[in-house]
Amino acid sequence: MIDLTTLSAPLALPCGDVSLRNRIALAPMAGWTDVPFRRLAWRYGAGHLVSEMLSSKPELWDTGKSSQRRVLIQGVRPQAVQIAGSDPKIMAESAKRLVGQGVELLDINFGCPAKKVCSKAAGSALLADITLLQRIVEAVVAAVSVPVTVKTRTGLTPSDRAGLEAALAAQAVGAQMVVMHARSRACRFVGPVDYGRLGELRAKLDIPLLVNGDIDGVDAARRALGSSRADGVMIGGGAMGQPWIFSTLMGQAPPELGERLTIMAEHLESMHEFYGHETGTRIARKHIQAYLKRLGMQSLCRASMQEDTAEGQVRWLRAHRNLIVDQGRRQQALGSAAA
Ligand SMILES: Cc1cc2nc3c(=O)[nH]c(=O)nc-3n(C[C@H](O)[C@H](O)[C@H](O)COP(=O)(O)O)c2cc1C
Repeated sequence: MIDLTTLSAPLALPCGDVSLRNRIALAPMAGWTDVPFRRLAWRYGAGHLVSEMLSSKPELWDTGKSSQRRVLIQGVRPQAVQIAGSDPKIMAESAKRLVGQGVELLDINFGCPAKKVCSKAAGSALLADITLLQRIVEAVVAAVSVPVTVKTRTGLTPSDRAGLEAALAAQAVGAQMVVMHARSRACRFVGPVDYGRLGELRAKLDIPLLVNGDIDGVDAARRALGSSRADGVMIGGGAMGQPWIFSTLMGQAPPELGERLTIMAEHLESMHEFYGHETGTRIARKHIQAYLKRLGMQSLCRASMQEDTAEGQVRWLRAHRNLIVDQGRRQQALGSAAA
């Protein structure tokens, strides 16, 4: 059986002196893994955090959204930001600028299937042009002295090998780590994951490899590591509504129900503070739903959605705290959801 204690060990990148503090990373997820969420994930043991994707386009550098996405988080090392784009020169410029602002690791997005990114032939669309993909990595590596990593998919379709070629091409020009979502671009976020495809890559790749896709607990992590033989895991959806998943993968018990509610309340307040009350309230809704679903209390989602002020959301949570904890305990006694 795969031994998950190896996930607690630091992961040194091949050149320079940058190490990840452990091998369980939080996946970048636009609209979800913002500063408040990343702070929580770091507190609960995530070994590596990457910002939500930032466009490299100069006209988008200073928008409110870009500025919020590149806020650095005190105490986190390395401060990692993800960039997306298709022009090597612009990507290099963007990388230089970010490093000037304190960024300590740059990740390049070659995985996003979204139309907005792909209409500009960025993200996973670059898997159709490995030469350009490699020129982008080369230009960014040449422009900055911090490690450059890439995040990609297995290919354009389940049967092609574009992801493997992309990873090797990136390594050849200086990328220091590959994260691979074990699905092709065509599969977007559904369809079976193919961790075995990463196993093929592992045999040829010398730099660290993280496996990503559908890892939401200990069993899934064992499966992913067993088939991929990756050096670590990256967790996206599995962290929604349970930002403590990182410490549980390292062998700690999940927080008690009461503590989960305290974490949820703190998360809410941190979103209200970071975004301001109006935007914070809107963004908080999906997180409240994610926590409630994890607790097996979908029935409360609709009522929580009615709250349209920050104060209302906090009040709602306080008013329902005992009910949620009591119901959760009953479910735990029956061996279901909130265990
Ligand atoms: C809402 C959402 C937003 C995402 N945004 C990004 C992003 O900004 N950059 C990126 O590389 N991947 C992004 N992804 C992909 C995730 O990082 C991850 O590869 C994918 O969700 C599969 O992992 P999971 O099954 O653990 O969620 C996003 C995924 C989701 C669901």
